[in-house]
Amino acid sequence: MLHLKNPHLLTPFPFINGEWINCDEQFDVSNPSDQKVISSVGDAGLWGIEKAITSAHCAKKKWAQKTAKERSQILKKIATLLTENSDDLATILSSENGKPLSEARKEVLYGASYFDWFSEEAKRLYGDIIPMPTRDKRIMVIKQPVGVVAAITPWNFPNAMIARKIAPALATGCTVVLRPSELTPLSALAIGKIAQQAGLPDGVLNIVPTYAPEAAGELLCASPKVAKVTFTGSTRVGKILMKNCSDHIKKMSLELGGNAPFVVFEDADIDLAVEGAMASKFRNSGQTCVCANRIYVQSSIYERFKEKLSHKISALSVGDAFAPNIDTGPLIDQEAILKVERHIRDAVSLGAKVDVGGQKHGLGGTYFQPTLLSNVTHNMLIAHEETFGPIAPLIKFETEEEVLDMANDSNVGLAGYFYTQDISRAFRFGEALEVGMVAINAGSISSETVPFGGVKESGLGREGSKYGCDEFTEIKTMCFGNI
Ligand code: SIN
Repeated sequence: MLHLKNPHLLTPFPFINGEWINCDEQFDVSNPSDQKVISSVGDAGLWGIEKAITSAHCAKKKWAQKTAKERSQILKKIATLLTENSDDLATILSSENGKPLSEARKEVLYGASYFDWFSEEAKRLYGDIIPMPTRDKRIMVIKQPVGVVAAITPWNFPNAMIARKIAPALATGCTVVLRPSELTPLSALAIGKIAQQAGLPDGVLNIVPTYAPEAAGELLCASPKVAKVTFTGSTRVGKILMKNCSDHIKKMSLELGGNAPFVVFEDADIDLAVEGAMASKFRNSGQTCVCANRIYVQSSIYERFKEKLSHKISALSVGDAFAPNIDTGPLIDQEAILKVERHIRDAVSLGAKVDVGGQKHGLGGTYFQPTLLSNVTHNMLIAHEETFGPIAPLIKFETEEEVLDMANDSNVGLAGYFYTQDISRAFRFGEALEVGMVAINAGSISSETVPFGGVKESGLGREGSKYGCDEFTEIKTMCFGNI
C-alpha cells in the first residue's frame, strides 16, 4: 500500500474520453525492489485503443480551435499541479520503476518543466510572411497541429518522457493517445488525473495501458485517424514502428537507443571528469539512453582516473528506492540483469578485468553491483551494444584521431561526452562527434530547453526546446493572388 497525501492519484483504470474505464482484463504492475504487486491495472486492449483513437479524433477540432492562450493556461496549470503533487507522484514512480525517491522527485519536476516550457511555446507558434517575386501575390505561412498523436513511452522515465511528448503535442493543438510502458503505467495514469484536474477537455488526452504492446503499436500505426507516432524506446522497436507507419506515410519522431562515448583527454580536470562519469553512468542505475556506455581514457592518465572512479563506484549505496541515502536502485527486470551479465562475461572472456562489483547484489531480486571494468577493448560487446545497466567500462586510447574513430564507430549517435581544457579541441572534437548532443566538461545534458535527439539509428526529430513544437505541426503555405 502506497502512502500518498492525495490517494486519488493512484488509479488502475485506463483513461478514455474523460472517463476512467473498468476493464475485463487486468495485468499486474510490480515493484522492482521486491517484486511485490503494487496494483492490477486495467488492460485497455485493442477495443480500448480504438475507442481512444476515436475520442482523440472527435476532440481534435475543438482543441485546435482554442486560442493559444487558452491551451497555454491549461498546460501551465498541469505544470503547477505536477509540482504541487511531486511527493506523491515520485512515490508512485519509485514504486513502479525502482529509482531512488530523490531521483524520482527530480524526474517529476523535470516532467513539470516541459509543461511549463511548452505552455509558453504554445503562444509563440509564429508563421512567416514571405516576399514574392511577383507584385500581385503575397505568401503567408502558418503552423497547424498535425492532428491525433500516438505517444508510446518507456519505463525508464515514466513521467518525464511522457511530459516531453504530450506537452508540445497539446501546446500545438494536437490530441493524444498515450500508450505507456506496461511496466510503469501508474505514473502515466496519475498524469491523466492531473490533466483532468487542470481542466483538459475530455478526449484530448487518452491513456491506454496494455499488456499487448506489439498489437497496440500495430493498431496505432495502422489507424488512418492517427496522424503521427512519437516513440521513445529501442532502435529495434523503432524500426518496426517505422515500417508499420509507412502505409500512411505517417509523421514520426523517434528517440531510440544510444551508446554514448565518454572521452577523458589527458588535459582534462580529472576530478571533474570522474564526477561527470558518475553522474552520467549511474543515473537511474545506468538505465538511460544518454548514459556513458563506453569510457575512453587517454593512456597517460588512465591509472589515475581508474583509481578515482573506482573509489567513487565502491562508495555507491544500493538499495530499495525508499531507503534513506540510496544512490542506485534495482534494475527493471531479470532481462536487464541477463544483459548486464552477458556484457561482463563477454568482456572478461576477451581480457577485461573486474575492478569493482561484477555480480548480482546480495539484496537479490534485480539488484546488481555497480561495476568497474578495466582493460576493455573495442572488440568487446560492451563497446558496441547499449548495456542499460550500472557497468562502467574503461577503454585506453593514445591519440585524438584514434579515439574519434572509436567513438564514431557505432550505428547509433544520441549523446557524447568529453573532457578537455583545450578550447580548440573542444570545438574540433565536439563538431566531429557523430551524435545529436555533446556535453563538454559536463556529465549531463538534459533539460526542457535542450533539443533532445540523435543521429544515425538513434532516431528522428528533436524533443523539448524551441524546436519541440515543430514535430507536432504542419507548415501550411497560403498564397494570396490578385492583389
Ligand atoms: C532517456 O534516457 O531516454 C532520457 C534521458 C533524459 O531525458 O535525460
